[in-house]
Amino acid sequence: MSHESTLLALLKPVQPGLARMREVLGLQIADASPAVRDMTDHVSRFQGKQLRGALVLLVGEATGNSTDEHSTIAAIVEMIHLATLVHDDILDGAKVRRKVACVHSRWDNQVAVLLGDFLYARAFALSTDLSSRMCSRLLSETTRRICVGEIEQATRRYDFELSEARYEAIAGAKTATLYAAACELGARYPAGNEELGAALRAFGWELGLSFQIVDDCLDLVAEEGELGKSAGTDVADGKVTLPVLYTYRNADEGMRGRIRDIYTRPGLENRARHLREECDLQQGLDYAQARASALIESARARLARLPEGAARRSLEALTGFVLARRW
Ligand code: IPE
Ligand code: IPE
Ligand code: MG
Ligand code: MG
Repeated sequence: MSHESTLLALLKPVQPGLARMREVLGLQIADASPAVRDMTDHVSRFQGKQLRGALVLLVGEATGNSTDEHSTIAAIVEMIHLATLVHDDILDGAKVRRKVACVHSRWDNQVAVLLGDFLYARAFALSTDLSSRMCSRLLSETTRRICVGEIEQATRRYDFELSEARYEAIAGAKTATLYAAACELGARYPAGNEELGAALRAFGWELGLSFQIVDDCLDLVAEEGELGKSAGTDVADGKVTLPVLYTYRNADEGMRGRIRDIYTRPGLENRARHLREECDLQQGLDYAQARASALIESARARLARLPEGAARRSLEALTGFVLARRW
């Protein structure tokens, strides 16, 4: 089965909730301004995988905590995710996202910053319509942490001595935080069991961190066509990710010099391809993949406390999807 159909199959138990989520998303990002509408039409042309929104719904179902408001929360989570992508692509100098030009390359940085802000504003406005403030509170704190993660990452560019713990703290802040929040809200909103919420939050954190580690491997080895987004941007922009950190740490001085040179030599095109061809990254990639697998193993064990059923089986399958995904 292709990765797309695997994902479609595992989202089956929450198909009606996802349909409502998409409807809310469509309505919320629409605007009377033709200039804004042009941009929101552009970002709506291709949906992402919608994993974070799906997690709100799947965890809601699997914990027996589903409410009518869960699909709205899923839409809010996906809007925040989309805002982070619009801003992240400016930061990373990416060109392609979800198979189309990034907002800042189709328009320019100025309007892309503002479109990201517009999406955040819409997401938080919608969260104030909910019956409980839990969602606004959790997602504003989550957004703060994502910003901290992105800022810290930007200040650690070209840092080959970055510790693994720091790497994980940054990857966790920028990506796992939103996964954790999606799962916590699914399990707890508006007044569910706190302990179960904490367990599902931990599940989401490990799943999200694993997702980012796999993403960092894909950025090194995958092709833009398959990924649907620019590849090789980490090396191009000085981000030293786990597979490279491991390779660097275990390399001799000569190899370390080569890695630094590929990252920094002025005018060098296609740095990720040079890195692949001139350095043996296999052990670093295997190491990162093993770390991602260990996190998934631990995440999966947390699901054991949930009642058997289709939603729990989907969460289990989702952990496998995150590890094996190619996009
Ligand atoms: C991309 O996330 C951003 C990262 C955290 C790596 P996704 O791969 O989930 O993006 P979409 O929503 O499916 O496009
Ligand atoms: C994305 O991280 C994290 C956020 C959007 C907060 P990356 O920069 O590693 O992800 P991609 O590869 O652009 O999707
Ligand atoms: Mg990026
Ligand atoms: Mg980035």
